[in-house]
Amino acid sequence: MLDQSLAGNEEYRRRVQQEAAYLSSKGWYHTIELRGGEIIQGLHPIETLREKLNAFPIPADLRGKTVLDIGAWTGWYSFELERRGARVTAMDCVAPEEFFQARRLLDSRVEHLTLDVDELDPQTAGTFDYVLFFGILYHLRHPLLALEKVCSVTREAAFVESYVIDGANPAAEDSGIPNLLEFYETDELGGQLDNWYGPNTKCLLALCRSAGFARVRLEKMVAGRACVSCWRRWDPPPEQPSEPAPTIQAAVNNRTQKTQFHHGKDEYVCCYFRASRSGLTKEQVFAEVDGYGVPALFLKDFGDNGYQLNFRCPPWLEPGLHEIRLRTQGSHYSQPIHIEKR
Ligand SMILES: C[S@@+](CC[C@H](N)C(=O)[O-])C[C@H]1O[C@@H](n2cnc3c(N)ncnc32)[C@H](O)[C@@H]1O
Repeated sequence: MLDQSLAGNEEYRRRVQQEAAYLSSKGWYHTIELRGGEIIQGLHPIETLREKLNAFPIPADLRGKTVLDIGAWTGWYSFELERRGARVTAMDCVAPEEFFQARRLLDSRVEHLTLDVDELDPQTAGTFDYVLFFGILYHLRHPLLALEKVCSVTREAAFVESYVIDGANPAAEDSGIPNLLEFYETDELGGQLDNWYGPNTKCLLALCRSAGFARVRLEKMVAGRACVSCWRRWDPPPEQPSEPAPTIQAAVNNRTQKTQFHHGKDEYVCCYFRASRSGLTKEQVFAEVDGYGVPALFLKDFGDNGYQLNFRCPPWLEPGLHEIRLRTQGSHYSQPIHIEKR
């Protein structure tokens, strides 16, 4: 244990250097650079870690923001975002000694949360402005459920980094190639027992949308892995609308045609509305629940400017009333209408 009261003197520096050399020999996952420039060498060099992080549009100034780093392991990403000013929680299903050693040597205040993704929800972990989900999706047996859990704790954006099966040549979204998800029953992928799925890039984007994120974008491929940004809100409506706002006539549970939705059930909202024109597509209609965008699954044009829009009722909604609005590409938002979660 280093005595922090010695910080700044030669004796302290020498002891940090010795400790960094000793820890490097233990086989760390992330390389960690200490404040005096000493390096704890890990499997992943700083340059690669930085290239991955910089693939995402994460603000350089994160003061006043909260971040959850899921599957943080040694914690390089957590410590880096703390350096940018964020209040960071590093979450992992294990509590690796290396994380705590690095935290002490960096004099960091990153909190550690030992939690399995299966246990993650706003009640257990709270909600965060930004969430990192790096190098973990393919380790999970229920990847879509996991992404839903990630979405439930995200207020602004989640950043997903993942192994994909077409890393060298990712399928463009409009390529006509289907969404593919390989399943590894035992240790087929890399001889590891905790690799369960390999999506193609197109499928990874579709999974992120299906989990409930409004806007999903492939930012970059880094070393054959996909870096995907997932935003909870739609772009703001146009300042000068080119068409009047739609009017919602009803928003009901598509199973019951009632306004009640039930905790623990996979239920879908059926929203009837009138717009100022016919011929809208589901890509031109933006619905939201409590201000968060929800991806459209189905749009039916009844003619005479009447429509039906279906979207998934976010499963994590608390009991009580929730506000639904929608707009078209060229309009402001409709009036709000409420559904009830029980
Ligand atoms: C490949 S490492 C990725 C580390 C880091 N995020 C990165 O990208 O460099 C996967 C991490 O996810 C954690 N992990 C695996 N399954 C998990 C689960 N079900 N819940 C929480 N963490 C999990 C592992 O303990 C490990 O720290």
